[in-house]
Amino acid sequence: MRDLVVAMQGSRIREVADAGLKNPDVLAFWFGESDEATPLAVREAAVRSLERGETFYGHNLGLPELRDALARYTSGLHRPVDAGRIAVTSSGVSALMLATELLVGAGDEVVAVAPVWPNLTQQPAVMGTRVRRVALAPDAGGAWRLDLRALIDAIGAQTKVLLVNSPNNPTGWTLTRDEQQALLSHCRRTGTWIVADEVYERMWFGGGRCAPSFLDLATSGDRLIVVHSFSKSFLMTGWRLGWMVLPDGVGPQVGKLIEFNTSCAPEFVQRGGLAALALGDSFVEGLVQRLRACRDLLLAQLRELPGVTVAVPDGGLYAFLRIEAHADSLALAKTLVAEHGLGLAPGVAFGPEGEGWLRWCFASRERERLALGVSRLARALGL
Ligand SMILES: Cc1ncc(COP(=O)(O)O)c(C=O)c1O
Repeated sequence: MRDLVVAMQGSRIREVADAGLKNPDVLAFWFGESDEATPLAVREAAVRSLERGETFYGHNLGLPELRDALARYTSGLHRPVDAGRIAVTSSGVSALMLATELLVGAGDEVVAVAPVWPNLTQQPAVMGTRVRRVALAPDAGGAWRLDLRALIDAIGAQTKVLLVNSPNNPTGWTLTRDEQQALLSHCRRTGTWIVADEVYERMWFGGGRCAPSFLDLATSGDRLIVVHSFSKSFLMTGWRLGWMVLPDGVGPQVGKLIEFNTSCAPEFVQRGGLAALALGDSFVEGLVQRLRACRDLLLAQLRELPGVTVAVPDGGLYAFLRIEAHADSLALAKTLVAEHGLGLAPGVAFGPEGEGWLRWCFASRERERLALGVSRLARALGL
């Protein structure tokens, strides 16, 4: 086995969840998913596909009709994209790994904006790539801010890739259009690729149909890979379906890597993806409306707790909160699970920048669960 893998830190979100998954009394808010099942029309499309016997290997880059539909979907939100630039992948996380395999190797350097979902920074580490972290910083109210100058200064000709997740998991911080433009211009100068994880682009509370995207600014020739997922916008976490938007001409290289990783996404899952896109904007808009109600309810209640700092996130599925007098987030998260029946993700899971914080996924169909969770937290804090 490679020493590097043996020495690697596993997911601390999993570590906390594993301690409580068997206990049905734990209110689990640790993973980034809603407790709402995938829409029926999507499930039925997959069932029909299986009934037709669509159980064979398929194209590396995805069903042509799904690539067409994704190109239309993307073009409806951003600058026009043709289907040749779309690669269908077996999840967003797989898309991120494919981008990593495509762009970096041992001894290379990437820059990552952090705190961030750990998979983004662990994947290059698996390749033996050095990850240089540029930290977001919280203000007094708990809202996280980017020091754009520091990020630009960290990216030089030696930087193979800028990894940025916006809207950000766990903080909800989101790049502005101006920041994206500045980063794109700088990365053009240094020859740095941008891998933009935009899986939460529709989970956006800032007005308009989605968060600012690099796809609004870049040309088809820019060194930009945008990673997407069906998991969040279409309630399909368990399906493992995502996609990449690639520059012109890069598809065949990614196709080879898909062949060596998963060969293709399962056809019945892709049929589900097609049905999800056919639900149209009204589905996603309804979902975001329900999410906003969850967010507002949770935030209002958390802000009443003395010693808890939390800002209203602009995007994503999470409240990221700091609890005074609890610097060790892993220990606190484990105590909350074991003694108070409350499952939250420890901030340190997202890197040292997140230490002292906890992440709470507010995507919950039953709002009372959120209120009950807050009362358990209050009890745990002796309030
Ligand atoms: C920032 C970010 N990127 C990518 C993903 C991957 O989503 P999936 O692998 O379910 O498509 C997640 C899931 O939580 C995420 O938070």
